[in-house]
Amino acid sequence: MRRGSILRMVVIGVVAGVAASLVAVLIPWLPDSASREMDRITFVYWFATVISIAIFAVVASAIVYMVLKFRAAPDDDSDGPPIHGHTGLEIGWTAVPTVLVTAIAVISAIALSRNGNAGTNPLKVHVVTQQFAWKFEYPDSKVSSGTLVLPVGRSVELDLESLDVIHSFWVPDFGQKQDAVPGIHTRLVITPTKQGTFAVICTELCGLGHATMRAVAKVVTQAEYDSWLAAQKAPAGGAGGAAVFEAQSCGACHALAAAGTTAQVGPSLDTVAKGAQAAGLPVEQFVRESIVDPDKVVAPGYAKGVMPKSFAGLPKDQLDALVDYVVTGKGS
Ligand code: CUA
Repeated sequence: MRRGSILRMVVIGVVAGVAASLVAVLIPWLPDSASREMDRITFVYWFATVISIAIFAVVASAIVYMVLKFRAAPDDDSDGPPIHGHTGLEIGWTAVPTVLVTAIAVISAIALSRNGNAGTNPLKVHVVTQQFAWKFEYPDSKVSSGTLVLPVGRSVELDLESLDVIHSFWVPDFGQKQDAVPGIHTRLVITPTKQGTFAVICTELCGLGHATMRAVAKVVTQAEYDSWLAAQKAPAGGAGGAAVFEAQSCGACHALAAAGTTAQVGPSLDTVAKGAQAAGLPVEQFVRESIVDPDKVVAPGYAKGVMPKSFAGLPKDQLDALVDYVVTGKGS
């Protein structure tokens, strides 16, 4: 091959490689990592991306060069010369991809295995999913919450389960997804590295309310986490209406001024008196019915089958406290 040809191919390859690199680097494809696990995933991602860009540059330079150089004249209907393969080339294009794909596989396996390792003293959180709500239980402290609160820097082992259909836990900034499957327990390890508030998203189509199945993950300092735990434990017996409201994550879907929640997935609870009037029921009875039998009366503009029916199973004292809280706005 002539020197000029090689030079031209190198120039085309560099241009293609630089263009692909700009697309990879300038567009923010992934959220900023907020967990040690996502750091490893991001490393694997870039490892594979760099290899892909290099291969792309080589292939693009060969294709572009050949299209330009060996283009047939418009009136040339003749066959090309017969070619009988090239052993060296074939060995090359088999061996090089084998080495690269094996390298990606090994790096991925190492990242996967490290990401599954929760260390010796993980914080355990039991994640209970159902259409269309999240509940986070902290078995070591007997606390349950609608918000996933985590101390920064400590590995957390999530134990996921579902009460009905398949859901899937995803915090984009943590970089991983894990299904919650009825009948089995699945696990996911997260080691948060950044304080902040992140979205917990259900990423498995699970029914009418799938798009609304969201919660919040708060990563805080160990001291803030400790005082949050203490505050959760404070109402002994846990039957105060505010505590029930928080533990059952009502605020994930409903606005209630007394609880400081503003979600709009379900109707606002600050206007239950109006709803009761429309339904022709005493307000307390109306609220109670709406909790235990949510499809009986559905507020205008909202769909049936979105609110979980499981609240019918609340212990009577908790249900009473919750109804009282929603009606009066006083926690206990
Ligand atoms: Cu739960 Cu989608």
